Amino acid sequence: MADKYLLEVKGVTKNFRIGGMLRGKKMTAVDQVSLSIDADKPVILSVVGESGCGKSTLCKMILRLHTPDGGDIILNGKSYSDTKGYDAQQFKLDVQPIFQNPYESFSPRKAVDTYLYNTALKLGIAKNQKEAEEKADEALKSVGMSLAVVKGKYTAQFSGGELQRVSIARALITRPKLIIADEPVAAIDASMKMNIVNLFKELKDKYGISFIYITHDLSTAYYVSDYIATLYRGGLIEYGPAKELMDAPGHPYTQLLMEAVPRVGDKWNQEFVMPDMETKEYALTCCKFAPRCPYATDVCRQGKPDKTDLGGGRSVYCFHPLQSANA
Ligand SMILES: Nc1ncnc2c1ncn2[C@@H]1O[C@H](COP(=O)(O)OP(=O)(O)O)[C@@H](O)[C@H]1O
Ligand SMILES: [Mg+2]
Repeated sequence: MADKYLLEVKGVTKNFRIGGMLRGKKMTAVDQVSLSIDADKPVILSVVGESGCGKSTLCKMILRLHTPDGGDIILNGKSYSDTKGYDAQQFKLDVQPIFQNPYESFSPRKAVDTYLYNTALKLGIAKNQKEAEEKADEALKSVGMSLAVVKGKYTAQFSGGELQRVSIARALITRPKLIIADEPVAAIDASMKMNIVNLFKELKDKYGISFIYITHDLSTAYYVSDYIATLYRGGLIEYGPAKELMDAPGHPYTQLLMEAVPRVGDKWNQEFVMPDMETKEYALTCCKFAPRCPYATDVCRQGKPDKTDLGGGRSVYCFHPLQSANA
């Protein structure tokens, strides 16, 4: 039987030590986060939250760049903890990353097209240079470019938006099932951001690729996401279908984030100023949002909220979910 899930993230936790081995403290960057992506229908799942909430750490665990300290991740029915059954080549074919700064993804001293050939040749997608060039051209055309335009050029000859398209093309060469894009438009010119994010939607529909789109910028997530997960201080606090979640958030923190989303007609560069980071909030054993929540009561300051099902595939980790969110 085919697996129900493409990806299952089951209660994953990652701890870091900060401030040295002896006098340092443990901080939980990702705290028992669970998420899943169904196998039968490609989706864009956006993971949103302010800087430092654990988005990149979660990505790195899904990309196998960090080993979780707790919980497990299962891809195509295979657990990451089964290290003997790990097939690195297959993993690279199935899961591809896209990073924030495309100028750091490519060396300034190497023509960018060589990265596309290397991916095709190393992973056995092309048998020779001619085939690699065909694959590269095909992938570049899927992102609105072509080998004729890119060939022999270096990073400095592209804009950030163009170069991010090339890195998406490189990821497409393997025909992945899942692309993990960690803040892919954060370093891109404002006028090009939606362009890149809309491309994800196009690729999802055309090639059946699912995306985990990591962003602290909710205005881009609004238009393309099928599902949204909100993280706060390492913990998942809300999850659900994007439209419903954004139109009527169930968690007071999601509501706070939504209120900061620029509305149509507003200026793009109206950046939401996130509240100051407080390391001690990571260590709270009650609701981590309680210290700044307008609705917090004693129960919020005493224990950790369990998952509450709001119906319609929505869930929230809150003692007092907002009534307007009930399906
Ligand atoms: N390698 C590391 N060593 C120590 N602390 C880390 C490391 N990576 C991330 N952190 C800490 O974990 C928290 C979450 O970081 P990160 O996942 O990068 O957040 P985000 O991507 O949401 O901005 C932050 O407080 C960050 O300082
Ligand atoms: Mg990050």
